[in-house]
Amino acid sequence: MTDPGERLRTSLAADVAVTPEFDSPIAMEAMRATRVLHAADQEPFPAPGRIRVVTIANQKGGVGKTTSTVNLGVALAMYGLRTLVIDLDPQGNASTALGVEHTVGTLSIYDALIGDNTLAEVVHPTTASPNLLCVPATIDLAGAEIELVSVVAREHRLRRSIETYLHELPAEERPHYVLIDCPPSLGLLTLNALVAGDEVLIPIQCEYYALEGLGQLLANIDLVRAHLNPGISVGTILLTMYDGRTKLADQVADEVRNHFGDLVLGTVIPRNVRVSEAPGYGQSVLTYDPGSRGSTSYVEAAREFAQRGVALPPAPAPPKAAPPPPVAGPPSVAALVLGEPVATPSPRGGHAT
Ligand SMILES: Nc1ncnc2c1ncn2[C@@H]1O[C@H](COP(=O)(O)OP(=O)(O)OP(=O)(O)O)[C@@H](O)[C@H]1O
Ligand SMILES: [Mg+2]
Repeated sequence: MTDPGERLRTSLAADVAVTPEFDSPIAMEAMRATRVLHAADQEPFPAPGRIRVVTIANQKGGVGKTTSTVNLGVALAMYGLRTLVIDLDPQGNASTALGVEHTVGTLSIYDALIGDNTLAEVVHPTTASPNLLCVPATIDLAGAEIELVSVVAREHRLRRSIETYLHELPAEERPHYVLIDCPPSLGLLTLNALVAGDEVLIPIQCEYYALEGLGQLLANIDLVRAHLNPGISVGTILLTMYDGRTKLADQVADEVRNHFGDLVLGTVIPRNVRVSEAPGYGQSVLTYDPGSRGSTSYVEAAREFAQRGVALPPAPAPPKAAPPPPVAGPPSVAALVLGEPVATPSPRGGHAT
């Protein structure tokens, strides 16, 4: 198995080999920038076999969930695929990185989850690409974990919003990709995203402790598949923040590849300072510094991700509303997933805990 460092070096060497006239680092960077910036003149990415609703989750904080959602989203959109990014994290980082307003009062995902707004009413355009739309998150979402507890069909709210949105759009306007950026927890927001998605993309940081907590995420995905969303599974693992100077990064990458096999994208995202600077300018790294390694890696990762989607079979039926959850019956899966105490019916008809 080639190690990720080797792959990066080979890819750099390949750039030089095919374009020997670009023999200085600056010339190489300019050439890469031109490729990214003129994405529209290049071969578009292939459309997926069906609309892909992708939940980007890992309850570990700071592993690159938001960075990957935003940059994959921008890359897919720049290369011709209609993409909707849903910011489901009260921190609103994805909204910031896409330059979408998310001050209190802005129509946001909160209004679709807790209020009566449709997703169509809370979708905003982005400056990165006309193909890219974003549903922002405002700080109101911080209260949603609690407010959702008493809402009917609380685990299904996001799924229903997305299904209605897709159903009401004319086919030629429907997004090819819906990317949902999750918060770093396994609460009701992430549960909504797992119920809404068809596949999970897990970013894993090439650092020590990278795999810690992953077992719990995988167990939760299994629970959701068993009880709430039979269609969900882990579809993609993306290695992020790879630092080629450390042996540790290679060890983590090898361990992840041994464990997850082909689910792991061949492209690895290197640690690159331009990636971390871009959100400060309300931009993705593709628009902030298109020639940077961070930018080209995300384009390559998006290309690979898109190519893997081509073979997906079409959805069995057009999107329609999810069936209502049982009014009474077995303990709710939210209780199992979230570890809430499960109420058992008392003989007098009330609920004993
Ligand atoms: N490839 C990279 N190179 C350098 N910095 C990076 C890279 N990817 C992400 N970062 C930085 O690491 C930090 C965490 O990334 P990010 O916000 O995407 O993680 P997250 O998993 O969404 O975090 P949270 O769990 O808080 O939502 C950010 O400051 C981001 O700019
Ligand atoms: Mg985040």
